[in-house]
Amino acid sequence: MNKIFVFSGTGNSLKCAYLLQEQLQETEIVLITSKNIVSQIECDTFILIFPIYAYDVPSIIEEFLKKSIIKAKYISVLVTYGSTCGPTYQIIKRLLPLNYFNKIKSIENFQSIFPFPKEKKINKIKKETQIKINSIALDIKEEKKFHIKSFYFLTFIPRHLYNLFKKTKLFTNKTNKKCTLCGLCQRICPVQAIQQKDKVVFDNKKCLHCQRCVAYCPLKAINFLLVTNKTKRYHNLEIEIKDF
Ligand SMILES: Cc1cc2nc3c(=O)[nH]c(=O)nc-3n(C[C@H](O)[C@H](O)[C@H](O)COP(=O)(O)O)c2cc1C
Ligand code: SF4
Ligand code: SF4
Repeated sequence: MNKIFVFSGTGNSLKCAYLLQEQLQETEIVLITSKNIVSQIECDTFILIFPIYAYDVPSIIEEFLKKSIIKAKYISVLVTYGSTCGPTYQIIKRLLPLNYFNKIKSIENFQSIFPFPKEKKINKIKKETQIKINSIALDIKEEKKFHIKSFYFLTFIPRHLYNLFKKTKLFTNKTNKKCTLCGLCQRICPVQAIQQKDKVVFDNKKCLHCQRCVAYCPLKAINFLLVTNKTKRYHNLEIEIKDF
């Protein structure tokens, strides 16, 4: 039995998990959330998929790897990313003895900084993702030992800057007047960082800035950084709220 453990904010990583599941036999997908951290994992092939955040491993993945005892014949890690992975391989190999590490170029979901992707780009990445997953699936079936090369030089700068900014109010989600207190964002947040009483309140210490609430709020009522009420929000079009 193969197991894919996946963390995904806006669906890119989850879509990769689905595509890989189609290619491999007897493969179970488990979504990583703060409520669903499994301590004992036993399987033939263990596959971990997550997005890169600021050249780094998201904190929920670090927590997951620190709390889990993984017994598997073959361990692989796949990351989705928008532009540059930084030294993620060096970081992850300290947390997990892995046989395989690969990256999958995806659409950048950090919409506060990057422009909303054009349809042409979305379609191009979709095709490339399928090709990349096909080749990764072959590697995994053959239990190939491989890791992409990544460089460390100066890559600590974005990680440290991000960690500094994360502590400030600038990096806090905010709701606007459109919010109807429907409760959806609270339900879908993977780390219970949202409380809803007479208004929606975000716990910035817990928030991963995964963009899920920002992207899936049906009224575009959540703003983050420079995202304004009118700006489009990106999520993988093939992943719906019910998938999380
Ligand atoms: C907070 C944050 C930081 C990010 N930092 C990086 C980065 O350093 N390098 C990069 O290539 N992409 C970065 N991205 C883009 C995501 O890694 C990419 O869009 C990923 O596919 C999203 O996966 P998901 O849809 O499964 O959440 C970042 C996204 C977010 C939300
Ligand atoms: S999903 Fe949007 S509308 Fe619903 S409570 Fe959250 S911010 Fe408000
Ligand atoms: S509050 Fe929103 S951005 Fe933060 S972790 Fe929850 S869903 Fe992700």
